[in-house]
Amino acid sequence: MKDKIVVYRKLPNDLLNYLQNHFEVRYFPNLDEHSYTQFLNELTDAHGLLGASLKIDQEILNLAPNLKIISNISVGYDNLDLPELKRRGILATNTPGVLTETTADAVFSLVLATARRIPELDHFVRSGNWSASIEEELFGVDVHHKTIGIIGMGGIGQEVAKRAHLGFDMQVLYHSRTRKQEVEEKLGATYCSLDELLSQSHFVCVMTPYTPETDKLIRERELQLMRSDAILINGSRGKNIDEGALIKALKQKWILGAGLDVYEVEPIKEDNPLLTLQNVVTLPHIGSATKETRYKMAKLAIENIEKGLNGQTPPNLIK
Ligand code: DGY
Repeated sequence: MKDKIVVYRKLPNDLLNYLQNHFEVRYFPNLDEHSYTQFLNELTDAHGLLGASLKIDQEILNLAPNLKIISNISVGYDNLDLPELKRRGILATNTPGVLTETTADAVFSLVLATARRIPELDHFVRSGNWSASIEEELFGVDVHHKTIGIIGMGGIGQEVAKRAHLGFDMQVLYHSRTRKQEVEEKLGATYCSLDELLSQSHFVCVMTPYTPETDKLIRERELQLMRSDAILINGSRGKNIDEGALIKALKQKWILGAGLDVYEVEPIKEDNPLLTLQNVVTLPHIGSATKETRYKMAKLAIENIEKGLNGQTPPNLIK
């Protein structure tokens, strides 16, 4: 009998076909409140789960007594209760590597869009307000030759540093759990304390995974340390920043602006004050969202689940 996989993320057709040829598949391409009960019912005899973002906690796991593996279609795995999975002997995998450069591109697009006020000025043109050369109040700030501070120098942080240093002649500061000698040599990056990074950088990029240690890493105190002409970029996880404190900082102009791909609650609520602030650029968590990269992520996640269910070690086992 074939193993049963419950899929809760839309897959490219050819990959879905492949999966259906090899496994018994229950497919929930748009998991929402209407399909959720049916999804939960399917867990009873599921051997594998394949999807992204969904919080996998004790409650869900209690409904899935036959589960052998959860394959996350993402590099982040803060949605998984790892100690509980370990206790139950359930494998967990993610999709690192294939999304590194694409996510760095998205983060850098936030740097540029926020500094040059691209969405605001696009709206200005479309609303028919462009009747003469724009005045200083609509000017942006330079990116090139400025200082960028990267918090979390993993693979994506390193690609952001590469773009900043080689493409925009920026000085790179970084703060990370470990020193990265190679990045220091190749990109002239300087390791410093978090406080030093915050007080010196024109662009502060939060790139660290979300863990209990990074919960609200950036709060009022940290925002007050930042320069008044600094821009905060978050391409990691919303909960790494105290959103209430950020809103206060943006309203009171402690900092110049923010470019955000992630939020404390996703999708962001309509009444979130961030959406009313002119000095914020908001994206709907699109770090890895290109056709090519999402395809590679899905393919890798399928390889992980297939290996796991066939008794082999998946290439991206989370330890
Ligand atoms: C990841 O892979 O963790 C990204 O945040 C998803 O876009």
